[in-house]
Amino acid sequence: MVIIVTGTPGTGKTTLSKLIAKEKEFEYVDLNTFARNNNLVIGFDEERNCDIIDEDKLSDSIENAFKDKKVVIDSHMSHYIDPEIVDICIVTKCDLKELKARLEKRGYKEEKVRENLDSEIFDTCNVEAIEEGYKPIIIWTDKNVDEQLKSIF
Ligand SMILES: Nc1ncnc2c1ncn2[C@@H]1O[C@H](COP(=O)(O)OP(=O)(O)O)[C@@H](O)[C@H]1O
Ligand SMILES: [Mg+2]
Repeated sequence: MVIIVTGTPGTGKTTLSKLIAKEKEFEYVDLNTFARNNNLVIGFDEERNCDIIDEDKLSDSIENAFKDKKVVIDSHMSHYIDPEIVDICIVTKCDLKELKARLEKRGYKEEKVRENLDSEIFDTCNVEAIEEGYKPIIIWTDKNVDEQLKSIF
């Protein structure tokens, strides 16, 4: 069983993924680390300050690595994995005021805070996930997460 958790930076992907891993006994996978360890990094996106992942090879690698396992995959790029091999797609979302505070607390510069707030306003990860063929489940991380997870587990 494969769960992916996508969403704007700061909306709570890592926190939620690790909670699911712990409570539901899933293996936690950080997609960036996985990509680096499996030769899937084909460049660096200077603008977004993140690795560019070989999307063509990504899904096969994930499928081979985690066949018959319970994994939760954490990344704002995770919705680029082929929906065919994913059971549940979660999009984390967060109230904008709270998200702004979280990003500022991280020490992000004003421009980067703005960019991420814009992504959240435009619902970018959710829209992209739907375009990829997913039916995302939204989890609001500024509200009671355990309560919302009951609709999944
Ligand atoms: N469910 C939650 N309840 C309270 N605070 C949260 C929750 N999820 C995330 N946060 C806060 O938001 C910050 C960013 O969360 P994180 O999981 O690192 O986001 P992401 O992985 O999407 O960038 C965390 O440091 C934490 O303080
Ligand atoms: Mg994270």
